[in-house]
Amino acid sequence: MSDGLPLKFEEGKLLILDQRLLPGEERFIEINTKEDIWDAIKNLKVRGAPAIGIAAAYGLWAALKDLKTRDYKEFSLKFRETKEYLETSRPTAVNLFWALDRMEKKLKEYEDIKDTGISWEDSAKKIKEELLREAEKIRIEDEEACYAMGRYGLELLHPGMGILTHCNAGALATAKYGTCLAPIYLGKEKGYGFKVFADETRPLLQGSRLTAWELKKAGVDVTLICDNMASAVMKNGWIDAVVTGCDRMAANGDGANKIGTSALAILAKEYNIPFYMYAPLSTIDLDTPSGEQIKIELRDGEEIYKMWYEKDMAPEGTKTYNPSFDVTDHKYISAVITEKGIVRPPYMEGLKKLFE
Ligand code: MRU
Repeated sequence: MSDGLPLKFEEGKLLILDQRLLPGEERFIEINTKEDIWDAIKNLKVRGAPAIGIAAAYGLWAALKDLKTRDYKEFSLKFRETKEYLETSRPTAVNLFWALDRMEKKLKEYEDIKDTGISWEDSAKKIKEELLREAEKIRIEDEEACYAMGRYGLELLHPGMGILTHCNAGALATAKYGTCLAPIYLGKEKGYGFKVFADETRPLLQGSRLTAWELKKAGVDVTLICDNMASAVMKNGWIDAVVTGCDRMAANGDGANKIGTSALAILAKEYNIPFYMYAPLSTIDLDTPSGEQIKIELRDGEEIYKMWYEKDMAPEGTKTYNPSFDVTDHKYISAVITEKGIVRPPYMEGLKKLFE
């Protein structure tokens, strides 16, 4: 049995919960090479923006831990090759690039290690230990950020509310607690009695396979709906707030998240329901001016008509279009919840302030 978290580090080994097998099976896989971690990220064994970043940081360390090199120059060359390779796994979630950059910054602190007089063998050992410590720091900081977002997010919710969520921005997508599911867990502890509606989130079903799984496990009242039922439940008056995660938020507050998120935000506006996007600072990318510059991952069309079915669910040769994310325009976002507080429009100013 897992504890519902996406990865663990045990006896010097990096283990990732294979989320493709959920909810049927809880199996951990060991990560030892750069190909192992690339495949785990690309094929969504580990997924969700913060968890991708954390896994990439540990994965980078795991891929280099047994590497024998002659000197710092050779080690940093191999480091760079591995980093660049991992950066090709998925393009949208900025956490991947953010975490790998942090690891590189840590490595660069040791650029002058040759002048310290200790042997390269000992220096390499020290550098590897420091890289592992940095990955661990990234994980712990994410856990703290999620808890803080949960505290802030809870200020926007009231007991008994109906809450609609999309994809999975829960514990499985982060170090712990989740981003937009964190206030739901905190509310559960306080007996708030939320009624959560989880979109199934086609085509990869993160809502039904993962969100329903982790919320049920925690004893939260969760009702699964198909994505195209969101308007109906809103019209029924069952939804008081929509909460989602975010994979990359641009400087103007446009937020890329799982495909289907923008439709929910537009619907929420029509029904006068607040739409809250949760984005830790590791997901906010001030170097990207607006959503237009965010690269959207395109995935294999077979995910739409083949992956979950015994038989193909489209005639042979049918054309497909399978973008994994869409961008919600900032005008539809009522507030952005971060670990440093709640940001309201205008986002350009509010988001920038978070980093000052
Ligand atoms: O393709 P995925 O499963 O990695 O997409 C995940 C999402 O879109 C999440 O909502 C997002 O990463 C926020 S995670 C806290």
